[in-house]
Amino acid sequence: MPTLLSPLSFAGLTLRNRVAMPPMWSGKATAEGFVTPAIIEYHRVRAAAGTALIIVEHSFVHPQGRHSSTQLGAHDDSCVEGLSRLAAAIRAEGAVACLQISHAGARAASRVTGLRVLAPSPIATIRESSPDAPDQLTRSQVEEVVEAFARAAARAREAGFDAVEIHAAHGFLLSQFLSPLTNHRTDEYGGDHERRSRIHLEVLAAVRRRAGADFPLFVRLGMHDERPGGLTLAPACVTAAQLVSAGAALIDVSGGLAGSDDPGRGPGYFVGYAEALKEVVDVPILVAGGIADPRMADLIVRSRRADIVGIGRAMLDDPDWTRTAAAALDQA
Ligand SMILES: Cc1cc2nc3c(=O)[nH]c(=O)nc-3n(C[C@H](O)[C@H](O)[C@H](O)COP(=O)(O)O)c2cc1C
Repeated sequence: MPTLLSPLSFAGLTLRNRVAMPPMWSGKATAEGFVTPAIIEYHRVRAAAGTALIIVEHSFVHPQGRHSSTQLGAHDDSCVEGLSRLAAAIRAEGAVACLQISHAGARAASRVTGLRVLAPSPIATIRESSPDAPDQLTRSQVEEVVEAFARAAARAREAGFDAVEIHAAHGFLLSQFLSPLTNHRTDEYGGDHERRSRIHLEVLAAVRRRAGADFPLFVRLGMHDERPGGLTLAPACVTAAQLVSAGAALIDVSGGLAGSDDPGRGPGYFVGYAEALKEVVDVPILVAGGIADPRMADLIVRSRRADIVGIGRAMLDDPDWTRTAAAALDQA
């Protein structure tokens, strides 16, 4: 029976246990989106505590998809040098290093990017306090976004990351495409669920072409919008299965417009989605969401409701969370 502390091998990677640091924006990048010593230390200390998988905070793939002025970038070759130092620091502590890559879509802001905000449909996000009214992406702009994801993934590989994670959750661009609430397109990228998920499969294929089919690719997928009329679990599971068939090596389950918002279910609030997805796909499933108790994390793995547990805010509060948890579970 797997436990929180047992190793896991898949897609050429070996995790020393089942604890992950989920991607968490640190607000510590330079104005150019470059890595700083503070970003390296933020991730390194959590790797040094024995955490098996560090998924580095969302990094923008295109200047127009930047979420904040302190967000990390993967949009340009000039980012590779800093990203290399970050990946090396994480790996030197024995953790697997993954970079999350993202486009904010309607959650970007002109005051940050100096550019028009683009989205699947001209619908402002309800997540930001003073959102811009976005323009609808043209087909050629969709192609540009797909290519931007692919190039960013290739940079992650060049920088020495072990894997890349495509951000398709929390109301960012790919999540906007998948949601009936924010995608009202009538072309091949909208109209029904299959067309709303077309860009996901295009991004995945482009990443594999540019970064190599042997470079492990994870997807953080919002499984439910948690809002009336929004994305629900069953179609999200269909998309997850398609992504896995197309080569995704891991699905990182999340939901809502911020993974940190509990929809009212209490600790482990997305575990039910992970459990449902495990019935459908046979790649490792990672789940985060309100999990802080090591015994709860261990039970999630033991009961095979998920394979890897993400510890977010509890690991921000206590960078040593994994070491402390391992000691507590060893004594139990
Ligand atoms: C400060 C902060 C920053 C976050 N940044 C990201 C991010 O960059 N990418 C992402 O997918 N999720 C992000 N999240 C969501 C977390 O990865 C995680 O899914 C969420 O906090 C739930 O896990 P937890 O209850 O263990 O914190 C962030 C959460 C917090 C609290």
